Amino acid sequence: MPQDTAQNATQVLDASPDGIARAAQLLRQGDLVSFPTETVYGLGADARRGEAVAAIYAAKGRPSFNPLIAHVASVQAARRYGIWNDWAECLAHAFWPGPLTLVLPLKPGHGISELVTAGLETLALRVPAHPTAQKLLAALDGPVAAPSANPSGRISPTTADHVLAGLSGRIAAVVADGACAVGVESTILGLAGDAPVLLRPGGLAAEEIEAVLGQPLAGRDLHDPLTAPGQLLSHYAPQARVRLNATLPRAGECYLGFGPYRGARANDLSLSDSGDLAEAAANLFGHLHHLDAQAMPIAVAPIPETGLGVAINDRLRRAAAPRDAVLPEQR
Ligand code: TXA
Ligand code: MG
Repeated sequence: MPQDTAQNATQVLDASPDGIARAAQLLRQGDLVSFPTETVYGLGADARRGEAVAAIYAAKGRPSFNPLIAHVASVQAARRYGIWNDWAECLAHAFWPGPLTLVLPLKPGHGISELVTAGLETLALRVPAHPTAQKLLAALDGPVAAPSANPSGRISPTTADHVLAGLSGRIAAVVADGACAVGVESTILGLAGDAPVLLRPGGLAAEEIEAVLGQPLAGRDLHDPLTAPGQLLSHYAPQARVRLNATLPRAGECYLGFGPYRGARANDLSLSDSGDLAEAAANLFGHLHHLDAQAMPIAVAPIPETGLGVAINDRLRRAAAPRDAVLPEQR
């Protein structure tokens, strides 16, 4: 039987009021809808519906121990699901909507499926800034569980075409609305313990968070920054082998530069000609998708380990890791 029959073809919706209304209706009936956020495209399901959330794991082929982020429209909505504290108040005020996820203790009566939290007593919450994500969350008036909209272990999607390349025929719809401006996933902060902990570097630089909190973040100086539960080391992986900190490509390699040097081949790319880390983050996954299509090993220029460079290097280390590498505690 062909898989891509009309019955299970993925609808491509636009960000018009009709497109958003249709996307919200699909979510409401338990279907999966991919939508743009300012970081990456998410693969959304109503976070209160266990079967819908289970379908996310199935569509992505994702290991079930990896908990998901619940996306909500506002701080007020987030307060319905997480137990608030002063750090959350301060950070939500400074950075929401935006590329920051806060992990908080679950509030009694939250109604979130256990498949979202993977059985943890905490919940990851985020208010995305992308206008289309905002409109969709407002139209649904409920929490949307959404990992990045890529098959598990593959490069995250920053365009609707990336989403369709990985998941076409496996999800009900994608709301297509351009490229994601930030380009790497949200920064995840744990706020359920004695001190704020950086669980995943991402699209909001740790330095900015520390400036607002007025204190250093635990987990900030990680040699192995893989502290969010269920974070597989080999992740964001292209098909091709990836070699890091390469000041020059070797024969037979394509090149992903940073700065004015773009490598020797016509199809080589630079993350940012001017050495701008925000531009590099926005280009990261798209350029990796592009180079991966050339079926050659990819050599990547050194990226400074400051600001957004921390998130970029984290994703690159995962792209370069052996495919079966997992954290020691998950072996
Ligand atoms: O930018 C983003 O964060 C994107 C967009 C779609 O919002 N989403 C995203 O989701 O990156 P995902 O599923 O690829 O990554 C979520 C991460 C997981 O690595 C998981 O370990 C962590 O969030 N996480 C979720 N719930 C958690 C919890 N209760 N405690 C600690 N970490 C948690
Ligand atoms: Mg992901």
